[in-house]
Amino acid sequence: MKKLRAGVVGLGMGRGHMGSYIGNDSVEMAAIADINEERLKEVAAETGIKGVYSDALEMFEKEDLDIVSIAVPNKFHAPLTIAALEKGIHVLCEKPMAMNLGEAQQMKKASEEAGKNLMINFSYRFNPLCQALRQEVDKGTFGNIYFGRTVWHRRRGMPGFGGWFGDKGGLVQKNEGQGYDQTAEFYTDKDGELVVTVPDIPDKGSFSPYEEFVSSVLEKRKPSAPAEDGIKVQKILDGLYRSAREGIEIRFDT
Ligand SMILES: NC(=O)c1ccc[n+]([C@@H]2O[C@H](COP(=O)([O-])OP(=O)(O)OC[C@H]3O[C@@H](n4cnc5c(N)ncnc54)[C@H](O)[C@@H]3O)[C@@H](O)[C@H]2O)c1
Repeated sequence: MKKLRAGVVGLGMGRGHMGSYIGNDSVEMAAIADINEERLKEVAAETGIKGVYSDALEMFEKEDLDIVSIAVPNKFHAPLTIAALEKGIHVLCEKPMAMNLGEAQQMKKASEEAGKNLMINFSYRFNPLCQALRQEVDKGTFGNIYFGRTVWHRRRGMPGFGGWFGDKGGLVQKNEGQGYDQTAEFYTDKDGELVVTVPDIPDKGSFSPYEEFVSSVLEKRKPSAPAEDGIKVQKILDGLYRSAREGIEIRFDT
């Protein structure tokens, strides 16, 4: 079977995408793009990848790609994703999907018009602890959930993260976009009594978002974490910013 030709745009987080494509027998890691020439040369030298571009649009034009990861700062997600889809390339786009709901909807529309997959890299969905939590939710362990709160603690600053982390589209979006639960015990109450659930945690690393993306393309099916899920999260994010700006409670349908 012909391998899927993969490209990666953005060589920060994108290096993780690249590593997974290189390790996937169904994929040929064909080309990389980054505006940072130094980073580009360094990664090309490390990996021996032949297609090397400082302009992602040129890469889409010349490389005959089947799939591409868009792992650049958030403000470039929509234009690059739409450009790739218009060239007939399936896209795995980093989270958060876009800068606002309007952009996210345009990305979904481009995917539908092209008939190509658009998956959002909600990587924590593939985290075994998050999967364990989801299993308990589905089993009804927590009853009817009417309130959710996620907290992520980091005690040592932000080493290794780029400028996006503290900008709009950065920290709040990253942390509120999906649940982060790093404990292996879940607490709830039943009839006034504390109930502690120790979940069955799925095997670590058994499946990654990158493998799911590739499989969805090969199997010609919708990926898990499709564009519509990105849009749901985007509504929450837009609501958070609006609430902070206007000091009001925001209500919306998901
Ligand atoms: N899924 C996750 O768990 C996860 C984790 C970290 C970051 N992210 C997301 O990944 C994205 C990138 O974050 P990062 O930490 O890798 O940032 P980063 O700044 O470390 O890397 C981004 C790279 O993109 C390049 N770049 C910028 N604009 C470009 C353009 N127009 N064309 C080509 N290359 C361009 C930069 O030169 C840089 O090398 C963000 O959207 C972020 O939210 C997701």
